[in-house]
Amino acid sequence: MCGIVGYLGGESVTPKLLEGLRRLEYRGYDSAGLATLEDGVIARRRTEGKLENLITRLRSEPLGGVAGIGHTRWATHGRPSEENAHPHAPAGATPEVAVVHNGIIENYKELRTELAAAGTKFSSETDTEVIVFLVQRELQRGATPLEAVQQTLTRLEGAFALAFLFAADENLLIAARRGSPLAVGVDTESASIGSDVLALASMTQKIAYLEEGDLAILRRGEFVCYGANGESVTRELKSVSQSNVQIGKGEYRHFMRKEIFEQPTAVGETLHSFLDPARLVATFPDLPTNAKDLRRMLSVACGTAFYAAATARYWIEAMTGIVSDVEIASELRYRKAALDDCGLALCVSQSGETMDTLEASRLLAQRGIPRVAIVNNADSTLARESDLSLLTRAGPEIGVASTKAFTTQLTLLACLALTLAEKRQTLETETLRRYAESLMELPSRLFEALELDKKIAQLAHDIAEAQHALYLGRGTLFPIALEGALKLKEISYIHAEGYAGGEMKHGPLALVDEEMPVVVLAPSGGLFAKIASNAEEVLARGGRMLLISDAEGLAAFGGKATWTLELPKVPELTQPILYALPMQLLAYHAALVRGTDVDQPRNLAKSVTVE
Ligand code: AGP
Repeated sequence: MCGIVGYLGGESVTPKLLEGLRRLEYRGYDSAGLATLEDGVIARRRTEGKLENLITRLRSEPLGGVAGIGHTRWATHGRPSEENAHPHAPAGATPEVAVVHNGIIENYKELRTELAAAGTKFSSETDTEVIVFLVQRELQRGATPLEAVQQTLTRLEGAFALAFLFAADENLLIAARRGSPLAVGVDTESASIGSDVLALASMTQKIAYLEEGDLAILRRGEFVCYGANGESVTRELKSVSQSNVQIGKGEYRHFMRKEIFEQPTAVGETLHSFLDPARLVATFPDLPTNAKDLRRMLSVACGTAFYAAATARYWIEAMTGIVSDVEIASELRYRKAALDDCGLALCVSQSGETMDTLEASRLLAQRGIPRVAIVNNADSTLARESDLSLLTRAGPEIGVASTKAFTTQLTLLACLALTLAEKRQTLETETLRRYAESLMELPSRLFEALELDKKIAQLAHDIAEAQHALYLGRGTLFPIALEGALKLKEISYIHAEGYAGGEMKHGPLALVDEEMPVVVLAPSGGLFAKIASNAEEVLARGGRMLLISDAEGLAAFGGKATWTLELPKVPELTQPILYALPMQLLAYHAALVRGTDVDQPRNLAKSVTVE
């Protein structure tokens, strides 16, 4: 994780770097720092905590110069502290080099031992610091900055993205990518580096993505790139598509709240990409496999994206008869999976940069399985490496807790299930039309669900007092229960677990007492009677219950729940998408009551680019 930026140009570098870091803060916010070069001297400012602390420090201790690098950190090696914050540079008044790093140097212990034996004094606990000392050693042996970096890279193991600043050359930045995403920008009078296009959009109009193993030399208006084998390569510069992207909160107090309320639009946009509203049929580009021959497919993802895939499994198997396995990406990577009859893989990821999902996707490619990426970033590594990429139209999601990315993933996956069913002729045309219609109605139903905001804000006061909470669902509502519990955990820090309703009697029921809030997702229809019985089991043990259903379901349950929320009645296909919204609002309001940091919860980062 971590976000890195670099800039050199005619303008003062500090505001440029800070704006870039502001856009990257979603990647980590344990500490932040800048190094700039002024009159041949590298100076640094680093602070523990959020970027705001660095900005405050820079007011009293400003940094000048027209070249520099910056970093926002998500700690892997070494606790969050000023000493461990990046940029790293050899201690002393006039460092020759400074570096910022995203990723992990796996052999840093051996390198540290080697350098310490030669007299190096380290001032941090990080894996990164070995890099600056290796580069400095090469510079002192007479190497040019490029040679020093090239030599150092041969010593490093692991996955990383790096940006270097050199005291000897104010018109030079060097960037290297091995395993972690990195892009560069080049304009006539400037050059820049960023972990993602959002950061670069504040600094440049033209960007190029570095490929695996690339080393980039950047000067004002100039960009030279060497590929993994050291040969000179061309990386196409493209106009920045997201330069106008607004990443402000607008009228909203938090990004998460803004993103929750953007869902009717985001889902609508996604539907427009994948459903023809006139003909009511799904419209997809050709899949990299013949749908008619498909017997088995596999979805891989992490966290919330995994729950989207887990929901889609119910749809795909019911509508198409294709065996649809779902696996947590980090688990698939390290087991001997039997995949011989798997004809298609879906790799689901908002960022398209999650390391575990990327590595799972690469493993599937090695096994010869065609891969479809479902991403929210068209230029992401996962999108570029897949056989086909399908874009959710959520727009930038900044809050760490995934909201609109989740519901747009579900929307896209529902459309995908329809197209597979159509190609395989496993559903009647009329049924397909009905499903498409229910999806088209979804944005309006989501608007209605958002009207529950005030009521949820009130009952969140009671939920926020709890130490633990349970979420129950059945069928497609089971993954939504898991997602609801994840939302509550990650932003309010209340311990929560999701269960399939039928599992309660096999153990978790023992947890229920009058202190334990139990959230039950119980839309009327198919499985209502089953989940209602599970809810009765909870009430019989004195549990406090939040029942979420439609008017019909609430009437059938007869006023026995402690709290209720009424959603519009929708067909089974769209229930999981609709029921995700009150889960998000409940977590949001519980977090507000508890005073936690909603957009940047402790210990987490938005994009997890380490294992
Ligand atoms: C959920 O709120 C989290 N942000 C997290 O579980 C996230 O969904 C997971 O890290 C996967 O991220 P991705 O979709 O970018 O791959």
